[in-house]
Amino acid sequence: MPAVGTNVPRKDSTEKVTGTARYVDDLVFPGMLHARTIRSTIPRGRIRDVRLSFDRAGFTIIDHRDVTGRNVVALIEDDQPLLAEREIRHVAEPILLLAHEDLDTLRRARVDIDYEPLEPLFDPTRSTQLLKDLRIVKGDVEQALAGAEVVVEGEYRTGHQEQLYIEPNGVIAVPENGGVTVHGSLQCPFYVHKALRIALGLPDDRIRVVQTETGGGFGGKEEYPSVIAAHAALLALKAKRPVKLIYDRLEDMLATTKRHPSIVRHRTGVTRDGRLVAMDIEVLMDGGAYVTLSPVVLSRGAIHAAGPYRCDHVRIEARAVGTNTPPNGAFRGFGAPQTQFAVEVQMERIAEALSMDPARLRELNALRPGDTTATGQRVEADCSALQVLQQAVERSDFHGKRERYAGTNRGIGLSLFFHGAGFTGSGEVKLASRAALCTTERGVRILVGSAEIGQGTRTMHAQIVADSLGIPYEDVETGLPDTSNVPDSGPTVASRTCMVVGGILQRCASDLRERIGDMHPREHFTKHGATVVTKEYEPPHGIAWDDDTYRGDAYATYAWACDVAEVEMDPDTYEIRPIHFTAVQDIGKAIHPVLVAGQIEGGTAQGIGYALIEEVVMREGAMANAQMTNYLVPTTLDTPTMDVVIVETPSHHGPFGAKGVGEMPIDGPAPAIVNAIRHLGLDIRQIPATPERIAEAACVSA
Ligand code: MOS
Repeated sequence: MPAVGTNVPRKDSTEKVTGTARYVDDLVFPGMLHARTIRSTIPRGRIRDVRLSFDRAGFTIIDHRDVTGRNVVALIEDDQPLLAEREIRHVAEPILLLAHEDLDTLRRARVDIDYEPLEPLFDPTRSTQLLKDLRIVKGDVEQALAGAEVVVEGEYRTGHQEQLYIEPNGVIAVPENGGVTVHGSLQCPFYVHKALRIALGLPDDRIRVVQTETGGGFGGKEEYPSVIAAHAALLALKAKRPVKLIYDRLEDMLATTKRHPSIVRHRTGVTRDGRLVAMDIEVLMDGGAYVTLSPVVLSRGAIHAAGPYRCDHVRIEARAVGTNTPPNGAFRGFGAPQTQFAVEVQMERIAEALSMDPARLRELNALRPGDTTATGQRVEADCSALQVLQQAVERSDFHGKRERYAGTNRGIGLSLFFHGAGFTGSGEVKLASRAALCTTERGVRILVGSAEIGQGTRTMHAQIVADSLGIPYEDVETGLPDTSNVPDSGPTVASRTCMVVGGILQRCASDLRERIGDMHPREHFTKHGATVVTKEYEPPHGIAWDDDTYRGDAYATYAWACDVAEVEMDPDTYEIRPIHFTAVQDIGKAIHPVLVAGQIEGGTAQGIGYALIEEVVMREGAMANAQMTNYLVPTTLDTPTMDVVIVETPSHHGPFGAKGVGEMPIDGPAPAIVNAIRHLGLDIRQIPATPERIAEAACVSA
């Protein structure tokens, strides 16, 4: 019985359902200390003096002078210190670390810090600190704009968004084997491994990173665990005892990364009958105080900024700049939700300007197989933008409802979008990910660095391996990655775990099949002992990317989707309630349909929150609403009924035709919701579209 395409039981379900799965805070090590981070309370300035006003007995205390390696969070640039030396660039910047056996004593310890405050900068449009800029050019935009029959201009803004994983960031560092082992809630064990090597100045083999069961990530555990792991490791090595460092919700929301706020400007030339002739796009992202992953978030945002449309003349100028808030970083979608919000509301405004049906405008311009994207990538036969659009329009009765809702408190809107799977450009080649299979007494064991963070990694990989080997799903063993015994499969990010890592596993399986013939791997193990097959990523043929000109095949392939949102406005409170949602998403092949539907429903709910209620209020550079009581996310009561349609146009780049599904579902809801609000006659171009913003727009239109 094939496993792929069926809803096999999750590999991690029994432990999670029975409550025996152990998360990092469930772990206790003998002699373990608790840790606490002392943070800056000002957004910008210099440290004058640090005074410890407590009895130091039993405390381990660390500042920047105790960093045994380099005082940097190793990521893209080395600009962020693990512990501030003198300069402070944001509120909640780590300055001092304390550890003590007793949590209460630890919490009571008083530290006074004297600052010389400096003028902070919070407005990205006024920032002169360029973190990254890039340019995508296709054709001649100025000339095409000059000749366009109609030009529509617009500016679109998106706010911060908090990942709000159920389990906050946390790690335990244990000194052992002349080095340190870090257990933690994380997405990328090998990112943490590298960061520890640099921070501690220890050789590779003295550092071990073990993922514990992880209660969600959404990108929020992509880079931040490198910070918290290094902090705990420094304390553990100094104290020579295990150290547990767990953030509570308040600290997690105040100190860790969020989605980049954005301002995107569009100038679009169209013919009177609705054909795109020129797209001039400017993207500005607020990176916060340090570079972290801003260059790559910006890159993905820029590449998706023109949407899934054919246009011969495109210019995209993108910049990420520094401000004095905590650094922004990875969050599901990685820049694409911001830029696709802008282009999809711009498309809506073009339809309004031309008095044209919004679905028809998109139908005219949607990419077809053989067309080229903004970077000049020729999309292949699996480009199904037109099909998902037509299906979503039909299933939702878009045209019927558009007429029936007109003049009521209800509105309907749509968005057409796409998402590239895997690292951008030459990223996958540089990563050179590896994965392995090992025969066991049960069958075969999967050895990957990919993390299960709730999305179903272990299950999906096991399905791919089972069918590729022709053995039952139950005979495939999986586990939590431990850098001391799995190869580096790259980070668990970028919608790459199925298409890229799953693809490497599929090649491992066919190689293993060749080696062991028709035998069940279990039999082979009994006769010959363990056999290990390791494979490395091989770039697909015919894929070319130029990092200097930003032209070529940005991704091996794209997934395609269309969302239709129906909303109702409360005429007294101006609250917008989503009432029904249609999501038609082509992800190549659903390895596990229930998990795929879960990704689509979850991503859609998170996108609806982004559109309507998730507002990070920054006051003097600090999140003022860092509690779940006033940073609101949709609950089931706020989530509309959803009609999820999985379309399967296979890609020859992925195992069994699969592409990525982790991120795309969050790209579409915000523009679909805002376009539904526009159907009510309200000129909204900024999210979250809170009742305050709706009321303002209602005043203007009245
Ligand atoms: Mo991600 S936002 O690529 O973890």
